[in-house]
Amino acid sequence: MNVYDTVRMHDVMAPLGYTPSDSYEDADMVILNTCHIREKAEEKVYSDLGRIRKEKDSKSAGGSKMLVAVGGCVGQAEGAEIIKRAPYVDMVFGPQSYYQLPEMVTRAMRGRGEVVELDFPQVQKFDMLPEVSDSQGVSAFLSVQEGCDKFCSFCVVPYTRGAEYSRPMAAILQEARKLVDGGAKEITLLGQNVNAYHGDIGQGDRTASLADLIDALAQVGGLERIRYTTSHPRDMSDDLISIHGSEAKLMPYLHLPVQSGSDEILKKMNRKHKAELYFDIIDRLRKVRPDIALSSDFIVGFPGESDQDFEDTMNLIRKVGYGSAYSFKYSQRPGTPAAVDENQIDELVKQERLARLQALVHEQQTAFNQSFVGKTIKVLFDRSGKLDGQLLGKGEYMQSVYVTGGEGLRGTIADVKVTGGFLNSVTGEVVN
Ligand code: 5AD
Ligand code: SF4
Repeated sequence: MNVYDTVRMHDVMAPLGYTPSDSYEDADMVILNTCHIREKAEEKVYSDLGRIRKEKDSKSAGGSKMLVAVGGCVGQAEGAEIIKRAPYVDMVFGPQSYYQLPEMVTRAMRGRGEVVELDFPQVQKFDMLPEVSDSQGVSAFLSVQEGCDKFCSFCVVPYTRGAEYSRPMAAILQEARKLVDGGAKEITLLGQNVNAYHGDIGQGDRTASLADLIDALAQVGGLERIRYTTSHPRDMSDDLISIHGSEAKLMPYLHLPVQSGSDEILKKMNRKHKAELYFDIIDRLRKVRPDIALSSDFIVGFPGESDQDFEDTMNLIRKVGYGSAYSFKYSQRPGTPAAVDENQIDELVKQERLARLQALVHEQQTAFNQSFVGKTIKVLFDRSGKLDGQLLGKGEYMQSVYVTGGEGLRGTIADVKVTGGFLNSVTGEVVN
């Protein structure tokens, strides 16, 4: 979502003559669009700021000015504290207020004190943003829902992104058409809790579900692939599960975080579901789409997690079998209930559990990628690989696929015969 927001910041700043730059040296303004989800992400902001300060200092020694802004969730969570700690920062703003960037920049240029915008305005930022630019290329992101009302006890999102909001369906379809006109063949619908989507359709209280939205999007000519992320098990409604079996444009891949396999821990996490519900959803998904690839997020070392709780998570992973997964050590986030739990887990125990969990997931991931060797898969090529003449694309199941040659295939979907399967990618040869 930060990638999407960053693209939208470009849209907001373009009328003022600002264009994206690849380096700090060429920049009149640097915006850090930040993440607050774990401590590590937050620390990174301050180390990046240190480097940016040097650039700003050498610019001002040469008589020119560089504005420095911290946007996103660290901005939202820490506000003016950031300017106290790093006084060379000119602007701080949260994820809901970046539509006000032109005004903030004007204020900062005039040098009238610090510029801090943290309100969750009554107006929706989406209504205030200019029409989307067509710069996202063949694979595009589209935010359809933002914020979260779930309040998992470890998570800062409900505080930094605010309450759940769904964009009206018509606005989303219009943006999708614009993206497709600009060359998008794949759109990933984004939301912190995207399957809680319930968008206005201009018929009183009636709203569209995510399945309704996918159904409408599938009618957009030229759009070939639809994905959505991130979902909550509690919101995997019947219509959403069933559209996985009926809509060919909806890719056979689902990122459905479960966080833990222990009911005790799920309860403490305030996840509002048990492991059983998760298994049930997976069963139903596989009934309608047997080849669906699954992905999840896991947190290890949540306060009070016993050896047995952790084994329950390992057993859940063995039972489900993942194509990929993301896993994290629990990180205490200020202001969240779990942060003040007395039963914090020792760092070494967290490390050991994370290593074991990742070893298991990596085994599954490698086996998944190897299962495609000898098969022909459809790949959307969207970028160059690291090596000369190499192209990188995405398979339907979300794997990274490398081929050599075929520069002309960039931006197209081509058949690839898989020759090798590895931990994070597959390699192959273009067929025909
Ligand atoms: N500590 C560790 N991981 C976290 N996540 C969210 N909050 C925390 C935290 N405090 C993880 C969850 C979520 C993903 C985006 O980040 O697994 O699904
Ligand atoms: Fe955070 Fe996701 Fe839980 Fe919402 S559902 S509080 S975004 S982990």
